[in-house]
Amino acid sequence: MKEQLTVLKNEALAAIAEVSALQALEDLRVRFLGKKGEVTAVLKQMGGLSPEERPAIGQLANELSEKLTEAIAARRAELEALFLDVRLGAEKLDVTIPGTAREVGKQHVLKKTLDEAMEIFIGMGFTIAEGPEVELSANNFDKLNAPEAHPSRDWGDTFYFDQDSQYLLRTQTSPVQVRVMESQKPPIRVVSPGRVYRKDEVDATHSPMFHQIEGLVVDKGITMADLKGTLNALIQQLYGAETQTRFRPHHFPFTEPSCEVDCQCFKCRGAGCAMCKGEGWIELLGAGMVHPNVLRNCGIDPDEYSGFAFGMGLDRMTMMRYNISDLRLIFENDLRFLRQF
Ligand code: DAH
Repeated sequence: MKEQLTVLKNEALAAIAEVSALQALEDLRVRFLGKKGEVTAVLKQMGGLSPEERPAIGQLANELSEKLTEAIAARRAELEALFLDVRLGAEKLDVTIPGTAREVGKQHVLKKTLDEAMEIFIGMGFTIAEGPEVELSANNFDKLNAPEAHPSRDWGDTFYFDQDSQYLLRTQTSPVQVRVMESQKPPIRVVSPGRVYRKDEVDATHSPMFHQIEGLVVDKGITMADLKGTLNALIQQLYGAETQTRFRPHHFPFTEPSCEVDCQCFKCRGAGCAMCKGEGWIELLGAGMVHPNVLRNCGIDPDEYSGFAFGMGLDRMTMMRYNISDLRLIFENDLRFLRQF
């Protein structure tokens, strides 16, 4: 039996030394030391030994089982360390390899000017209103008090969708005034930026699609002084506190009285230069007191309420602000141009 244990020991130790996978090692443990294992089987035969032999063989068997347990644990530690090394090697990350650069976008120059203007209006308590680009003629012209024969209604100037001239691409942001007054009660204080469309040939200062910002204030007791105060505040925040403004009489169907507002040329400060074409002044926007007919058309009593409105060209504003000489550059999406701002 002694020899049997020695053979078993050599066989087991050789097998353990050779094994190269954790599962195979576990299988060896079961094979030799498990309940039905080979060492256990030898121990079970000890009943057949004489009482003199038993302690010596028992001790040998215990030593063998301890030795094998140790050998298996040592081999397991070895294998685990080996596998960890292999895994760390495979998962190694080289942080010095150059990465793939991501292109970072930029705000469009038009959006920059728009955000600046909106910031100022919001600071003055305005909220932003929106209206559709496909409009009813009724909102774009009729309710805004445009006479039947007004030149802007002409098919040569306006994109209509139907023979009856009922639907069109809005020619101005002013129809948003109608939509706001029909859906909100005064006090009203809104600005509405957006695209507008006219049948213009493309050149350095014209495009069939361009952008306006509309403004509307309606409340009790609103006067021309409120209009001037608001627009002066806007212009001074945009172009500097010392900027002079000039209000010239004008005509718009939807306002009475109407005016055009100029600001002192911010380049030459009024002396006359190429920017202002020698005038010293730059035309900025149209404005006026909302015509009583318009208030009435939108369900607001002109005896109780009054208001002012204004409309300005965002593209023109952007061109002046960033010294852009050709409107087409703003819409052509040439990154070499757009990246400058
Ligand atoms: N809608 C006018 C245009 O496109 C601009 C304008 C002028 C808007 C006077 C207004 C205003 O609200 O009061 O030329």
